Order: sequence, then structure tokens, then C-alpha cells
Amino acid sequence: MSNVFVSHHPLLQHKLAILRDKTTETKKFRELIKEIGMMLIPEVTSDLETTDVLVETPMGAAQCKTLRDRIGLIPILRAGLGMVDGALEMLPKCEVWHIGLYRDEKTLRPVEYYNKLPSQATVQVCLVLDPMLATGGSASATIDILKRWGAQHIKFVGIIGAPEGVKRLQTDHPDVQIYLAALDEKLNDIGYIVPGLGDAGDRQFGTA
Ligand code: PRP
Ligand code: URA
Repeated sequence: MSNVFVSHHPLLQHKLAILRDKTTETKKFRELIKEIGMMLIPEVTSDLETTDVLVETPMGAAQCKTLRDRIGLIPILRAGLGMVDGALEMLPKCEVWHIGLYRDEKTLRPVEYYNKLPSQATVQVCLVLDPMLATGGSASATIDILKRWGAQHIKFVGIIGAPEGVKRLQTDHPDVQIYLAALDEKLNDIGYIVPGLGDAGDRQFGTA
């Protein structure tokens, strides 16, 4: 699992415990999705290329570095939306491109319903945001779309992954690094992550 990073940061694990709790209310759940997503960003961006720049401080010249590439955030609707604001706090100049997919309840296959990407890729780095990596179908289909768009450097940023989803992404897109706050045990017979947190979209938007 060399292209998979799972955070063991104690603060993040603390927040994850509250997120998983079935008694956590919608407002708190949304805050935690944002905060956990934000806390993953330093690791996600730790290998990005930089450019040397000279900055005038009040005390003189400082040799500094700035991020070289344009970065796009690609939230998968709906649940990925909750990770956008946290990522934007860390990366305020990102472009945000939404991809709408839902999982067909019977087949568990992703169905595309929203894609307004322009004809050519406008960013060098794409961060796909979705809290749940279950079968991996939604993430894989989104990355297919981004590759057809011309994206070269794609990373997946999730909160909870199942081994089945990680394996699927590694098979379909071995070039894509995966960042998670937890790697859980398995999928159940209706494709939900166990122990997971239930339905991430419903819990964020109060639609359970
Ligand atoms: C959830 C989740 C992922 C997908 C994961 O979305 O946010 O997009 O399921 O499952 P997979 O790895 O098996 O594809 P869902 O389809 O429930 O849509 P929603 O976010 O609109 O609720
Ligand atoms: N989507 C979710 O929101 N939760 C799961 O456990 C699996 C897919």
C-alpha cells in the first residue's frame, strides 16, 4: 500500500471518533468533515513543487519558496462538498471544479450527473475530495474524467476508506496517491464501510 497515506495524528483521530459517533448532530458533523479534511492537506501537499522567490521583508531580502503549480479541488457531489472550505483555507488560490456522481443503490456503480469541466485542463494538480472511499467506483470514475480532461497529477483525499476501495483505486489508477484519516475493516453486503460513519452525504446535509 505504498501510495496510501493514513494519518495517525492524535488530534485527527480524536475528531474522527466524534465524527463516527451516531449521536453527533448535523452541524457538528459538518464542522468535523471540514476540520479533518483541512488537517490532511499539509500531508497531501508535502511533495508539491515550489519556485524560488526573493521577498523583501522589513529587515531585508529573504530567499523563499512558493507553490509552483495551479491546484484544482475536485469535490465529488454531494459529500465531497464538505471538504472544500477546509482545503480552501489552506490553499486559497485553488480552482474548484465539481463532479456530480451518485452510487446506484442496487449495482453500487457510479452514475454521472454533473460535469462542467472546460475542454482542457486548467490546473496541474487535482485534489479529488470525497470523505468515503467504499467500493472505489465513484473515485475511480472521477479520476477517469479528470484524466480525459488532461489532468496529469491527481491525488485522492478522503476521510474513511475500505480496503476494497483502496484496492480498486490502486488497480485502476496506480499513479494516484491516496490520503485518508482511517482505513476501516471492510464493506458490508450493501456496500457501506464498516465500522465507517454511515452515509456521509445524509449526515452532512440532514437528509437521512
Ligand atoms: C457516497 C460517497 C462517495 C461514494 C462512495 O456518495 O460520498 O461519493 O458514496 O462509494 P463508492 O466508493 O462505492 O463509489 P453517494 O453516492 O451516497 O452520493 P451523495 O454524496 O450524493 O450522498
Ligand atoms: N457512502 C457513504 O456515505 N458511506 C459509506 O459507508 C459508503 C458509501
